[in-house]
Amino acid sequence: MEIQTGLSEKSRSRVAEDLATLLADTYGVYLKTQNFHWNVTGHEFYSLHILFEKQYTELAESIDELAERIRALGHYVDASFAAFKDLSAVGDEAKLRASKDMVEELVRSHEIVIRNARNLAQVAEEEKDGATTDLLGRILNMHEKQAWMLRSQI
Ligand SMILES: [Fe+2]
Repeated sequence: MEIQTGLSEKSRSRVAEDLATLLADTYGVYLKTQNFHWNVTGHEFYSLHILFEKQYTELAESIDELAERIRALGHYVDASFAAFKDLSAVGDEAKLRASKDMVEELVRSHEIVIRNARNLAQVAEEEKDGATTDLLGRILNMHEKQAWMLRSQI
């Protein structure tokens, strides 16, 4: 069926395309957080192990919401490692780092997502896509809170 929600195909495409980039970036932070949950060592091991788990669980929820918003806009989700790698500015983390470096790396990654989400919120507002604007508000709040909690560990 044709989508008749008052958002034009052009508007929906513009927002969905930016959402796909945000999804890829969020997946990047998710994987990095899980990686550090598994590989962190040192005297702060337990508290960071738990914090990272709490954070990647929230990130997984956000990933699902972003993908489902893309679908609601009438677009498909290219959910492959290749597509995510192509779109994401967050990057992979193959090295094992000291726990402080892990925390700093996660803060930087969240900040990439936060800046992208803020720009996308502007686009969604221009396109009068209130549902995406609302979703991005919650996403920004979650990332800024995670970044604050990480920054407070340093
Ligand atoms: Fe675990």
